[in-house]
Amino acid sequence: MVPVRTIEPLDVSNLPPMNVIFGESPIMALAREKLERVAETDVPVLVQGECGTGKEILAELLHAHSHRLKGAWVKVVCAAIPQSLIESELFGYEKGAFTGAYATKRGRAEQAHLGTLFLDEIGSLDLSSQAKLLQLLQDGIFTRVGGQVPRKIDSRLISTASGDLKQQTDNGEFRLDLFYRINAVTIELPPLRQRVVDLPILIDYFLDLYSRTFRRNPVPLSRDITRLMQRYEWPGNIRQLENMIRSFILIGNEDTLIADLIPSAPTSLTAEIDLTKPISLKEITKGATQDLEQQIILKVLQANGWNRRKTANWLDISYRSLLYKLQEAQISRAPARLQTTRTSATNYILS
Ligand SMILES: Nc1ncnc2c1ncn2[C@@H]1O[C@H](COP(=O)(O)OP(=O)(O)OP(=O)(O)O)[C@@H](O)[C@H]1O
Ligand SMILES: [Mg+2]
Repeated sequence: MVPVRTIEPLDVSNLPPMNVIFGESPIMALAREKLERVAETDVPVLVQGECGTGKEILAELLHAHSHRLKGAWVKVVCAAIPQSLIESELFGYEKGAFTGAYATKRGRAEQAHLGTLFLDEIGSLDLSSQAKLLQLLQDGIFTRVGGQVPRKIDSRLISTASGDLKQQTDNGEFRLDLFYRINAVTIELPPLRQRVVDLPILIDYFLDLYSRTFRRNPVPLSRDITRLMQRYEWPGNIRQLENMIRSFILIGNEDTLIADLIPSAPTSLTAEIDLTKPISLKEITKGATQDLEQQIILKVLQANGWNRRKTANWLDISYRSLLYKLQEAQISRAPARLQTTRTSATNYILS
């Protein structure tokens, strides 16, 4: 028997505080302003941003600041439902609508009556569900799969997209009319690399959160690590930062953080070339090779707990040769004393 799901109101007590969510960057101030303007209305909102930028948190905030807070919060992760099942999951079905439909089932949209329907990754909806959703947005009306009776509901739609929905409309994968309907208000969340001024507040928040979660003494991150974080690209955005800090709290040392934050060779190797005057290929190649060598040494040192003899063995070079290279690169010792003063062809973080 299929258990009947009761839809609980959203528990907003675990949301991070507003000053953490929006930080101090002007780009997030815009997002906050939009949120405050539209939260109380019933206008559909599309939240866009790369993965891990906080789209779901923002969607929850919109609901939390709306008059629907006490109503249902119905989340549908569209990308996680097989295409063939999305329509019946969203709009429900009547008994006998298809093989296996032994009883009538209410869909998620219906469950969102008087509340909010949250469609995560709306770009994964199939065309047939898109058509039904459009009608729902236009008149609040839909029919269950296999049903004839139009049903009217009162719900508000919040959706997210991490890909380019406009591109999907150009490819015919997403209906243009639905696109215009859902993106009347779009809140764009910037990638973390575009809001590095907010890093300290986010870092402090996660340090505090996970120290309490794991009952560890809160240890601040060293200034060098914070500096490394400010230069990092953050492909996984805030989720990646959160995961890093969680492991830091659990493991308790900065070495693993450094290994994650220092770009891995050789893909990160980019020579900065001054094209205003003739250049020596030999010199540039020498500088770049040295940089690559230093990255590798640094990683192997970290992997060996900064034991230089082991590192030399590992790299199959003599101990003396390693000491010479360390001196040349001004790599003095353990991570806590990392400085950032490279002047050569590639920019990073050594000594
Ligand atoms: N501004 C923020 N302040 C504090 N924590 C945040 C913030 N944004 C995101 N997070 C945290 O980062 C993680 C990812 O956030 P969320 O799930 O909202 O991102 P998303 O954009 O929906 O990611 P995805 O595209 O992968 O689904 C969550 O654990 C969330 O708590
Ligand atoms: Mg999400």
